[in-house]
Amino acid sequence: MRFLNNAATSFPNPEAVTRAVAASLAARPMEPGRSRGGKDLVSVCRERLATLFGVDDPAQVILVPSATYGLNLVIHGVLTAAAPCHVLATQLEHNSVLRPLAHAARRAKVEVTHLTPTAAGEITAAALADAIRPQTRLVAVTHASNVSGSIQPVAELAAVAARAQIPLLLDASQTAGAVPLSYRTLPGRVFLVAAGHKGLYGPTGTGVLVVPDALVAPTFVGGTGVRSEELLQPETLPLYYEAGTHNLPGAAGLAAGVEFVLERGVETLGQHRHDLVTRLRERLQTQPGITLQPIVNGDGRAGVVSFTVAGVDPDEVGLVLSESFDIETRSGLHCAPLAHRHFKTLPRGTVRASFAAFNTNDDVEALAAALAKLGRR
Ligand SMILES: Cc1ncc(COP(=O)(O)O)c(C=O)c1O
Repeated sequence: MRFLNNAATSFPNPEAVTRAVAASLAARPMEPGRSRGGKDLVSVCRERLATLFGVDDPAQVILVPSATYGLNLVIHGVLTAAAPCHVLATQLEHNSVLRPLAHAARRAKVEVTHLTPTAAGEITAAALADAIRPQTRLVAVTHASNVSGSIQPVAELAAVAARAQIPLLLDASQTAGAVPLSYRTLPGRVFLVAAGHKGLYGPTGTGVLVVPDALVAPTFVGGTGVRSEELLQPETLPLYYEAGTHNLPGAAGLAAGVEFVLERGVETLGQHRHDLVTRLRERLQTQPGITLQPIVNGDGRAGVVSFTVAGVDPDEVGLVLSESFDIETRSGLHCAPLAHRHFKTLPRGTVRASFAAFNTNDDVEALAAALAKLGRR
């Protein structure tokens, strides 16, 4: 099987990840602050993620059960004030941002503006600056669209938000591990979120949230294993946002996944994805009936190629690729309905091929050949 659905969850994972998860399950449970001796894997995972994202203090790195959880934590934590307020998001956001915002808007007087990208799929700093209002309390931007793979100018967007003193929620789920990101160089108050099971090669059920401080109220509170005599959650990082027993096999696997990324190098992994994306786009551009979604500046480091085939439903294309050619892609809306509205691919969406470290040129050629055959049927 050729697996080209890495934007959903990467597969296969490095063998070290599988081994680390198994070893964690077989070993005596060791929780940070709750057991004696040795270095626990939760702390190791936190430190590696801090190194990867350029975070000064590993305590700012919060291990969460998914990117969705981290995004909800920030959105609901920031939008607690009863006073009417405004949030700026983009049309490229995943439902993990769109839905928490829609729910917050239903609960309180929160107005949400979804910024329109350029035709190529870019959210410009000028568009963001123009849309800011005195009541804007949060800016939420995806680093790369999971539909088109377009990568956003994050440093420029962060500078605009910082100038207006508005926190920035950056969803790096599609870029973590493939597009370099230096948290410490981003100006202002930035919340960085990423899924653990995509370009970080960790197990499903893992995610990361980097917080600038402990000023946002946590969504869940509970046991931390320290200061148990206090009825309120200790307001120290990372405990403030990590209630309950940690996902130890998840942390072990994610630590191994991040080690793999650090060893290979983010630049190298991003270049590999870019090369595969560029090759596939070249192959498909010349095939009649195929329409490719644009990517900004030809930058393919998100590893995503999204397309439609004239006259064939995307689900049908996905099914034929899977059943007749043993190639796994993803079809439909990819949990990002407003992006499809923008790209005019509603209601059926697109077919998405997405690459990671273990994909090869052969995968690209096999997909291009399969689509050529499909076009001739
Ligand atoms: C851009 C983006 N944000 C958020 C998510 C949600 O990630 P998770 O499954 O870890 O909650 C995804 C995953 O599909 C995504 O592509």
